[in-house]
Amino acid sequence: MPLQDLSNQIAIVTGGTRGIGGAVTRALLACGATVVATYGGNAAAAEAFLASLPDEERQRCTTRAFDVADNQAVEAFFQEFDAKYEQLDILVNCAGIRQDGVVAMLPEESWRRVLSVNLDGAFHVAKQAVLRMLRKRSGRVVFITSPMGRLGWNGQANYAASKAGLVGMCRSLAKEVARRGITVNCVSPGFIDTEFIGELSEEQKKEYASLVPCRRFGRVEEVADGVLYLLGPLAGYVTGSVLEISGGL
Ligand SMILES: NC(=O)c1ccc[n+]([C@@H]2O[C@H](COP(=O)([O-])OP(=O)(O)OC[C@H]3O[C@@H](n4cnc5c(N)ncnc54)[C@H](OP(=O)(O)O)[C@@H]3O)[C@@H](O)[C@H]2O)c1
Repeated sequence: MPLQDLSNQIAIVTGGTRGIGGAVTRALLACGATVVATYGGNAAAAEAFLASLPDEERQRCTTRAFDVADNQAVEAFFQEFDAKYEQLDILVNCAGIRQDGVVAMLPEESWRRVLSVNLDGAFHVAKQAVLRMLRKRSGRVVFITSPMGRLGWNGQANYAASKAGLVGMCRSLAKEVARRGITVNCVSPGFIDTEFIGELSEEQKKEYASLVPCRRFGRVEEVADGVLYLLGPLAGYVTGSVLEISGGL
């Protein structure tokens, strides 16, 4: 039973073929939306994701590959989108990477690449999405940030800076477009069991879980539930907010 009716709504989910974004795509499809799920380059994962969907939902889902850090590629994607769809109702920006290292040893390229994908990429995509939403005077935007942007974390200066930057961009954009019926919010997941943290040893996972007041990692579906709330009718007066789904981290 879907939580809400999003039929006739068109959504773009960046990073929408795996992990948290994959769960958001599934949730939107279950609510009746049509979804374009984008990814960086892992075509095998995107194909497996599509294949895993029930037939009826697969017909409402397409996948597209491009690098969100590349503004020309983002613009080309939106031109292709316009040729197929008349409107854009929802953007969920999940595409993100980490390349950890302590500042004293962090290569310039790792600083730049994480900022380029996580922050520049979100700007590139949000700019194009909001241009389309402004015309029809409605829309919902959700960025996936991280508590690391608020807390800071050893070896994650680049990642934390990108995620803190996202919150600042979200709050500014929310103020710019509120009068046009567009809400802009962040969801901030704590430690969520995805390939994103896949290289952590079992020992590290136990140690991290012990830091969480709920004493466990979150599930992707628990993050998708929060995103759905912000996309639905119950959240019409919620904008410029950060919904933290972190087990109390
Ligand atoms: N997992 C956590 O504990 C956690 C906690 C807080 C916040 N987050 C945030 O949640 C978001 C999703 O994380 P996740 O755990 O679901 O990660 P994930 O499983 O690694 O999935 C990342 C997704 O982003 C896409 N992507 C990566 N770089 C891209 C690029 N340059 N251009 C376009 N798409 C790109 C990937 O595409 P490919 O499949 O082609 O690689 C994939 O679809 C990220 O922004 C992350 O920072 C995660």
